Amino acid sequence: MTERIVSGMRSTGKLHFGHYLGVIQNWVKLQKEYESFFFVADWHALTTKYDNTANLRQDVFDVVVDWLACGIDPEISTIYVQSLVPEIAELNIYLGMITPQNWVERDPTLKDMAKILRTKEAANSQISYGLMGYPVLMSADIMMFNATAVPVGIDQVAHIEITRDIARRFNNIYKTDFFKEAKPLLNNCSLICGLDGNKMGKSFGNDIKISDNEEVTTKKIMTAITDRTRLRKTDLGHPDQCEVAFKYWEIFGSVDDVATVKSECEQGLRGCADCKRQLAAKINELFAPIREKRRYYENHPQEVEKIIKEGSAKARIEAQKTLKEVRKLVGMY
Ligand code: TRP
Ligand code: SF4
Repeated sequence: MTERIVSGMRSTGKLHFGHYLGVIQNWVKLQKEYESFFFVADWHALTTKYDNTANLRQDVFDVVVDWLACGIDPEISTIYVQSLVPEIAELNIYLGMITPQNWVERDPTLKDMAKILRTKEAANSQISYGLMGYPVLMSADIMMFNATAVPVGIDQVAHIEITRDIARRFNNIYKTDFFKEAKPLLNNCSLICGLDGNKMGKSFGNDIKISDNEEVTTKKIMTAITDRTRLRKTDLGHPDQCEVAFKYWEIFGSVDDVATVKSECEQGLRGCADCKRQLAAKINELFAPIREKRRYYENHPQEVEKIIKEGSAKARIEAQKTLKEVRKLVGMY
């Protein structure tokens, strides 16, 4: 039997290059080898945005459109929305009962989120009970489909560790081997930084979106940080100190492109503005088919709705099977 993978993303709206290179590209490849479940984690979005839900629906839609545009294929993968599979909430209850409080308290990602929340003046700077349950809910997401592997970015690995611990604990308590222990499945792509050299993120305003058009992409690329010691085109450049632009070349350019850029930069034969204009053209060329597909789905929202509804219905059938077994193992009425 083919092994199962499950993975999700919070519904944060339109996705950026970091999502594409770090996660989606990997999913597109893996969906051909595994029985794949990919979902939009709208409950997880709610853990921090419960008081700001006006865009929640649109955010879910935008994420799915990005996935489809990038090549997640609804014919071979199950695409669904977390909250449309309410069985996950019930599994979350059983897992919550058996999870020691200090396991969630020591979750490093949660600690980071709490730190960010504390710096906000907002009314929701409190850590809610729901947010504390973030890793337990993630465990429910994963264990629901008894996945053996979870393709995620490196930042999610700690969560997968907790999932393994919870699965093991469940099996111990209820004297079963029903739940498998899922492993994180990392890809080998190097992390893409934001235009300012920091981690790429929507909230940092340093990202390029999959959905950005050519003009916006070019404008953004022109702001990318280069070798700061270089003032004129004829100054000899240092690609290894070109914090963003050259790194992008290494990610998006061919081996030949990179060699040319490097040697011309080092010899002072290439100006940074020209260099970045070429880089933008390269990126626009690579993303043209994805963006075209994206426009198609944006203009056919019913098709997207149908994919979401059908995928969620399919996921529910699998979820119900798991839940039936879990209720029996726990000893519910
Ligand atoms: N926490 C993940 C993120 O921030 C989303 C997520 C929720 C997830 N549940 C999951 C990822 C289960 C993998 C498996 O994007
Ligand atoms: Fe970076 Fe290109 Fe400028 Fe060299 S020419 S410093 S690689 S942007």
